[in-house]
Amino acid sequence: MSTQNQDLEIILNVTTQDGKDHALLALGGWRAMEVIRDYGLPIKAECGGACACATCHVYVDPAWLDKLVPPTEEEENMLDEAFEVQDNSRLSCQILMRPGFNGLHLTLAPGSEPD
Ligand code: FES
Repeated sequence: MSTQNQDLEIILNVTTQDGKDHALLALGGWRAMEVIRDYGLPIKAECGGACACATCHVYVDPAWLDKLVPPTEEEENMLDEAFEVQDNSRLSCQILMRPGFNGLHLTLAPGSEPD
């Protein structure tokens, strides 16, 4: 991806644990977890994005799954520690937003709520 599109605005759709939908404005290069957290939505993200806690667990809309960069072994190992993992589970701190992700839809998974 060229870096010239890094500043394009992208809408990230997020369904919170209570079933409410939110449309968030994101920027290319940001982690999805950072966008969700900065909007004040309930995400624990305890390790701050270091792929070391699994409390940023999300379910990816199946229509978007193939468009994401596949998870690393590190992410897959950490997902093994998460609650209620599904085929479309990802760690939102490992999803880097980019212009092609406009409209990406994530649902905050059980266990991602702050204490
Ligand atoms: S914030 Fe800890 S693994 Fe994503």
